[in-house]
Amino acid sequence: MGPIGVFDSGYGGLTILKELLVQLPQYDYIYLGDNARAPYGNRSFGVIYQYTRQAVEFLFSRGAHLVLLACNTASAKALRTIQRYDIPRIGPHKRVLGVIRPSVEELASFTTTKQIGILGTSGTVQSGSYLLEIKKLFPDFDVTQHACPMWVPLVENDEYQNTGADYFIQKDLNTLLSKNSNIDAVLLACTHYPLLEAHIRQNLPKKIKVISQGTIVAQSLKNYFLRHPEIDINCRKTGQRQYFSTEDAHLFEERGKKFLGQEFSAEKVCISK
Ligand code: DGL
Repeated sequence: MGPIGVFDSGYGGLTILKELLVQLPQYDYIYLGDNARAPYGNRSFGVIYQYTRQAVEFLFSRGAHLVLLACNTASAKALRTIQRYDIPRIGPHKRVLGVIRPSVEELASFTTTKQIGILGTSGTVQSGSYLLEIKKLFPDFDVTQHACPMWVPLVENDEYQNTGADYFIQKDLNTLLSKNSNIDAVLLACTHYPLLEAHIRQNLPKKIKVISQGTIVAQSLKNYFLRHPEIDINCRKTGQRQYFSTEDAHLFEERGKKFLGQEFSAEKVCISK
């Protein structure tokens, strides 16, 4: 048995882990943030795949049998390739899951107009992964995407509560709505965006619902364990947590606590070969 591995390019995945700790507190978790190489949002497919594979291999080497890519960019650009080509080589009993499919599965409960807005990094938007998944499940949905490349740096640099942040948030939301004013639900398809949620809500008409992924992904993992007891049995349940970053551990602890909503101790690790 081993911990559940949770991976993100940096701090953002801690917003997902926060909800996992609420809904599935009995499990052990090992979190890895690749802060030294974040953000991933504008990187190419090949680079994101290489970095994500190294992260997954690290988490497996620390005993995880199941890894959640708590990063939209990594889920969009690396998940399928890792599932198809790396898992059979590393260990067919291992599992890697992403955040896109579970988020899409829940969309229908948030919209009446079937006009959905997706906000994410350039990498997530360009990959077309959300468009593809939504088309499969809800072919009659009209999806409008918009990339917000300034939002992750605002959060990473701790500028997200300042008035300057509103300028970029307003600008990007106006662009999204100028593409389609009938949108009635907006999915925050980036793990960093929940920290901007209050500002996002303030800058959107009240009738538009804002969807964060944390609770949805945690609920989906809960259901996954019910459907897959053979995977659940490999996940240790002693409530232990471990935190790793590829950058300075102290910095990770300091900034990360805002994302996780609690203090934690971290270790620095090198995962590049
Ligand atoms: N965690 C990434 C995501 O959810 C955002 C940060 C990055 O660009 O690396 O897309």
